Amino acid sequence: MCDDAIENESVVTASRHALGWLVVGNSIGLLLSLLLLKPEWQPGRLTYGHWVPLHLNAQLYGWTALPLVGWLFSMFEVDRGPARRWGPPMIWAWTSALALACFRWLSGETSGKIFLDWRNGSLWGFLVALGFLWAIFAVTWWRRKSEWGSLRRRISLTGLIGLAFVPVVMWIAASPKTYPPIDRTTGGPTGSSLLGSTLVVIGLMLLLPRVLGNRGEGKARWGTWVFFGLSWLVFGLTEIIGGGHFDAWQIGAMGMLLPWAWLIPRDWSGFVWPGNSGVWRMCLVFWWVVLVLAGVAMYQPGVLDHLKFTQGLVAHSHLAMAGFTTSFCALLIANLTGRPVGGRDSILVWHGGVITMIGVLAWMGWREGNGSDWMIVQAGWREVGLILRMLSGVAMLAASVVWMNHFSKS
Ligand code: HEM
Repeated sequence: MCDDAIENESVVTASRHALGWLVVGNSIGLLLSLLLLKPEWQPGRLTYGHWVPLHLNAQLYGWTALPLVGWLFSMFEVDRGPARRWGPPMIWAWTSALALACFRWLSGETSGKIFLDWRNGSLWGFLVALGFLWAIFAVTWWRRKSEWGSLRRRISLTGLIGLAFVPVVMWIAASPKTYPPIDRTTGGPTGSSLLGSTLVVIGLMLLLPRVLGNRGEGKARWGTWVFFGLSWLVFGLTEIIGGGHFDAWQIGAMGMLLPWAWLIPRDWSGFVWPGNSGVWRMCLVFWWVVLVLAGVAMYQPGVLDHLKFTQGLVAHSHLAMAGFTTSFCALLIANLTGRPVGGRDSILVWHGGVITMIGVLAWMGWREGNGSDWMIVQAGWREVGLILRMLSGVAMLAASVVWMNHFSKS
């Protein structure tokens, strides 16, 4: 696999751009944390609210999405197909569409929907890039299908058909007319919708070592797969019933996630992981267990109400994204390319920064939950908290710059 990975120029390009967007996203995150600390530093019309979409979308469509695009390149074996020389330009098209969109969002042209800010020119630019990407997969599938076994041919065709709907779903989801299901009593996601979105991530984690072809054999047996099916059934039923975090069936739906904190690490322990990815596998398992336990605990009646609309939710977002998702992306890149993402020190600095940021934000969120005037009455403590969050950001940005340089040179 390592030899193949090195040849995978498109996969390496997608990984390099992903790391570049992580640095961009972190730089803007650091700016946001500085503006929260010193609102008077807001540069002219480029106020805090204009920068937030850039931070969120650079992290989602740049850092988080591009390793997955690299994975698709590897699954369709684009670098062994007739469209291989279109792989790298395709990644540049993706980066250009995202960069164009960043300037549009900075000028205030956004749909106003978190993570779906695409609108007008920025939306069409991105949809064209998605169409270009799909065309590369379709040409590769058509020309290489004769070399694949019938099962692989059928699975990849199903995948190709599914991918064809992504631009359509993006266009509908980005429309100001459509809205996701929310829990009307809290304004937040329902337990069932959280279960559903997490089951997609669980599916990706069950697929990862199997699709990458890691040696060894997973420890998931029929019981795990039956429980996976049952979890989807519970998602469907509780989604239909609806309700909020005071309802037993919605709390129960969230509770279905707890066994996965053990089932995924157990399954993965049966596989052999390439040298450069071992450390990221450990980090991912650590953050996965913390995320499941913290997520279920936070959804409990009284707890969610205490943390709602406080820094506590920002803590949770960074636990999920800067802790878990970042470890998943780094593990994927290390497995796909055979190249390391950072070394011991920069990885330690990153996770040290994330743990400090989450700890500080969770503490501030809990204090805010005790009394909404805490941020004003205890201005000194607020400043200390915001300074620590900013310094964690400096550490995380530094680590991500090391990863980007290290990866490009390795
Ligand atoms: C240098 C590191 C980072 C810093 C300094 C930083 C800083 C910030 C700040 C100041 C906010 C706004 C919080 C508020 O409105 O009160 C924020 C929000 C957010 N950041 Fe970061 N961030 C960093 C890294 C990341 C990473 C790596 C990810 C994802 C992979 C991420 C995902 C998010 C998300 C999803 C939100 C929205 C939170 C919410 O509204 O609940 N951040 N970040």
